[in-house]
Amino acid sequence: MPLTDSDPDWWRDAVVYQVYPRSFADGSGDGVGDLPGLISRLPRLAELGVDAIWISPWYRSPMADAGYDVADYRDIDPLFGTLADADKLLAAAHELGLRVIIDIVPNHCSDQHPWFRAAVAAGPGSAERELFHFRSGDELPNDWPSAFGGPAWTRVDSDSAEDWYLHLFSPGQPDFNWDHPEVRAEFESILRFWFERGVDGFRIDVANLLIKQRGLPSRAPLDAAGEPSPYEDRPEVHDIYRGWRRVANSYVGTRIFVGELWVHPDSLKRYLRPDELHTGFNFPYLQAPWQAAELRSIIDSTLALHAEVGAPPTWVLGNHDVTRVVTRYGREDTSWTEPAGRLVVPSDLELGTRRARAAALLYLALPGCAYIYQGEELGLWEVEDIPAELRQDPTFFQTQGANPGRDGCRVPLPWEAGETWFGFGTSGTAEPWLPQPEAWRAYAADAQADDPSSVLALYRDALRLRHSVDGDLDWVESSADVLRFRRGAGFECLVNLGSEAVPLPAGAEIVLGSAPISGGTLPSDTAVWLRG
Ligand code: NOJ
Repeated sequence: MPLTDSDPDWWRDAVVYQVYPRSFADGSGDGVGDLPGLISRLPRLAELGVDAIWISPWYRSPMADAGYDVADYRDIDPLFGTLADADKLLAAAHELGLRVIIDIVPNHCSDQHPWFRAAVAAGPGSAERELFHFRSGDELPNDWPSAFGGPAWTRVDSDSAEDWYLHLFSPGQPDFNWDHPEVRAEFESILRFWFERGVDGFRIDVANLLIKQRGLPSRAPLDAAGEPSPYEDRPEVHDIYRGWRRVANSYVGTRIFVGELWVHPDSLKRYLRPDELHTGFNFPYLQAPWQAAELRSIIDSTLALHAEVGAPPTWVLGNHDVTRVVTRYGREDTSWTEPAGRLVVPSDLELGTRRARAAALLYLALPGCAYIYQGEELGLWEVEDIPAELRQDPTFFQTQGANPGRDGCRVPLPWEAGETWFGFGTSGTAEPWLPQPEAWRAYAADAQADDPSSVLALYRDALRLRHSVDGDLDWVESSADVLRFRRGAGFECLVNLGSEAVPLPAGAEIVLGSAPISGGTLPSDTAVWLRG
């Protein structure tokens, strides 16, 4: 059904599907996913039953970090298509009733961005360099690390004693100086550019990192003194988002922000005050082990902190940065920790799949918004045997291969079991940018579509039934390994995270199960939705 502006609260319980464009569908046949590919598959997402899509960066970029290094915030990278394709995509999505959220990357740009090139050309002490963080000296300016490994500083010219510049990520991603009014004005203008083209919202990349402590002090002495980090979660960042909220509120319909906020839960709520961001990712939930008490405690604290500010929670199992949930839940340690979680540790994929199915029914039953990372609805796992020469994630290179990086969760999707590249590209086209495991033939979307026991069918059924689930969450006390809660009058969710089957409540009607149910008991690592 085409979208109208009549639902101002659409984002409060939306299911948002994350599209990682280079791995979603390849329309041009060059082995890399793109906007024509995405447009052609949009009807599949509408059939799945999601409300919105979030598209990882599509901007012009040299791809030092898969597009999170932006050279032009107002254009589409030729690898993905054109601005005309973006307009077509927005129109096609809206026609299908899907909202479109795009990524915005405000902490840093690409070293090929015209501002950074001008700063390099203008030399030390220039006004152009004020837009970034440049420092002179023989030694590294401070002890800040790059999130991808190594120091957060690189010299403009490695062969001379030229200035250093700050990059909290790869050297191809110089950090902006957000104390500069031109940076602030530029980003508000970029937001307007896309809002005017019709986007429904932005996912804000590393939303908590923009502001750096004046003087850029080293971190170790601050850590030792129990002082806050000089570059994470600085209080001045909230002003930026108040300004952004005013921009969003000036458009018709509700245009939203979702922040990527790797912060303490007490901090998270400050970003979600009514005049700041609409939502923020719930990473404690994503990081939690498959363990009843731990999950319940995170669900409770999440609901409580969001209630304080009147924002809906988000529930997330994965994204393009973390190990896929099937693999994580099949390991002995089911929690997610970075960087240890990236190390290749044995995983029982059958067990992981069983748990991921139960986890899907759990998180889709919780009040608030849910995010699906592409491929979760197919039950895909982390591809851990990608040869070194095919890896592309800067994490792999900046740690000299010690950390395999994030390519394993970014392998192109399988659409049709019988087609070349499982339908990711079209017949006769280039090989996908990362190889797809042969076992994914059986996981192709078309192989699952008509199989009622498939992961895809489970997601489709859950998304359809979720529309009638409403109301606050009320726990029903149960045994230690079981999570049981009601929402509203007629809905109950029951998840058995223990190793023994548990009795199901007498007389309840099972409307959906993550595994076959018989004999009035709920098997281990299984979830059900009940009515009555
Ligand atoms: C978070 C993004 O999700 C990740 O993919 C990226 O590498 C960093 N931010 C830097 O932009």
